[in-house]
Amino acid sequence: MDINSSNVGNRGKISFESPSNIALVKYWGKYGRQLPKNASLSFTLQNAKSITTCNYEVLSEKQNDLQLDFSFEGNQNIAFANKISKFFLSIEDIFPWIRQIKFDLTSENTFPHSTGIASSASAMSALSLCLCSIHEQLIGPLDNFFKKASFVSRLGSGSASRSVYPYLAQWGEHPKIEGSSNQFAIPFGDEIDELFKTYHDDILIVSKNEKSVSSTAGHALMDSNPYAESRYSSANDNLTALIQSMKQADLDTFINIVEREALTLHAQMMCSDPSYILMEPNTLEMINLIRSFRQETNVPVCFTLDAGPNIHLLYPHEYESQVEELINTQLIGLTQDNSIIRDRVGLGPKKI
Ligand code: DP6
Repeated sequence: MDINSSNVGNRGKISFESPSNIALVKYWGKYGRQLPKNASLSFTLQNAKSITTCNYEVLSEKQNDLQLDFSFEGNQNIAFANKISKFFLSIEDIFPWIRQIKFDLTSENTFPHSTGIASSASAMSALSLCLCSIHEQLIGPLDNFFKKASFVSRLGSGSASRSVYPYLAQWGEHPKIEGSSNQFAIPFGDEIDELFKTYHDDILIVSKNEKSVSSTAGHALMDSNPYAESRYSSANDNLTALIQSMKQADLDTFINIVEREALTLHAQMMCSDPSYILMEPNTLEMINLIRSFRQETNVPVCFTLDAGPNIHLLYPHEYESQVEELINTQLIGLTQDNSIIRDRVGLGPKKI
């Protein structure tokens, strides 16, 4: 697996864009080397993505210190560079050539900074896809490029493992899902009704503030959470039922599970020690308005949340105009500065 000496001095350039994803069944709680305590499932998004370019040069020998420059949206960013260096060094067992490369990385996000939108899934998957591509150029073809990219992405950020496939991705061992694994996510778009491929995700920004607790700290709180074990088993049950509802396009069941998953994630944080309330008053207000609207109109729109106050509004494409009305007349005033990010289910990463 070492670099052939004929490659020394070679330079190359790889670019990938990779999307964010939104979990329907949430990953919250991990162990060991970035392994999930329960299985999760997510929609791959289309518009919220990271675009990462990696210029590299093969050095004559491995260096003691990783050679890496990183700029984010045109500016050198030492904090991010340190984070990436730490990640790269942690995967030296997978890519033993990593210290023999001089990296010049640039990255940008298509979604605005400071909207409280987590970028680790898109950023870590874009980086990992670049690394897998470099590996192919220097060492030879990988057996299953996207499986490997998912595996490497997971080591950077658990949710990133799910960003490398179109439409829907499943991560985490589950007794009823063939091929499921804690090590990498698997593509799941073929398992569901086509309706879900048309889904929109409009992200209503309730607060642009930094999250009060990082995902890493949040996962760690599950280790001492008295309800953790029952949460892990209910997540796996929810996943079974959710998949069934998505095969049958049973939207009532889909909505019921997706909303309970979001609220359960927040409930776990409320009963952690220390405890956190990650919703804002406007989050709750929006949840009530969405539920009333659904009851009055029968439009199958529902919400999910990540570990923060922003609302993800999920609905099939055919209801776009009705949901637009809901947003404009009832919800937009509850966002910070009328901030909304329009997204929908997407096709996954792209080499550019
Ligand atoms: C609430 O993937 O950000 O979004 O593995 O520590 O990087 P790390 O955590 P991360 O956790 C995501 C948590 C979540 C739910 C989910 O995406 O499944």
